[in-house]
Amino acid sequence: MNADEMKKQAAWAALEYITTDGVVGVGTGSTVNHFIDALATIKHRIEGAVSSSNASTQRLKDYGIEVFDLNQVNEVAVYVDGADESNHALQLIKGGGGALTREKIIAAVADKFVCIADSSKRVDILGKFPLPVEVIPMSRSYVAREIVKLGGQPVYREGVITDNGNVILDVHGLDIMEPIKLEKTLNDIVGVVTNGLFAMRPADVLLLGSENGTQTVFANK
Ligand code: 5RP
Repeated sequence: MNADEMKKQAAWAALEYITTDGVVGVGTGSTVNHFIDALATIKHRIEGAVSSSNASTQRLKDYGIEVFDLNQVNEVAVYVDGADESNHALQLIKGGGGALTREKIIAAVADKFVCIADSSKRVDILGKFPLPVEVIPMSRSYVAREIVKLGGQPVYREGVITDNGNVILDVHGLDIMEPIKLEKTLNDIVGVVTNGLFAMRPADVLLLGSENGTQTVFANK
């Protein structure tokens, strides 16, 4: 079974968490694309979706699923999204697809965050995957210098503009031993919009596609 088949398996397993007549929070990425395909099969059971990217919005609309502005919605019962890495506390690195800011906003609103991934995403220590940081364009060099002081090696993701009109620095070389502390420290740098550490608000459950079926993983705190 290849990684994409594992992603698909995890994505379809997430249907079990969808509540009837609710608004579903939808993330971004190749795993989420499988989830949107799955969600389309039960679209009559949901009120609609809120989406974390223009790409996911388009895919949802192509299936005839209504997409609401988050400000129109009082409650998001479940948010389903992928990840680039997850540790044992279900703290994540996200943002490989550049949608981290909207993803983090919907995760904050949601009652339950269901993360879907293939088994390669499970790690002991976060940081092998370069940590994405979305920054206001004029602050790029300043933020990069501040990140170097923290021990990271920021690399400008050239040619990428986020859905919010910002740019991304991918930070290499971090062994993230204290994810919450680093998430807060990065947030405090002027010019940073969001960083891809989802530690203050981790996932509630991780559905991990593997050779042996989909594993349901809860946080090991
Ligand atoms: C996008 C993300 C994605 O969830 C993450 O990059 C995983 O992507 P994929 O499902 O394609 O492996 O955070 O910003």
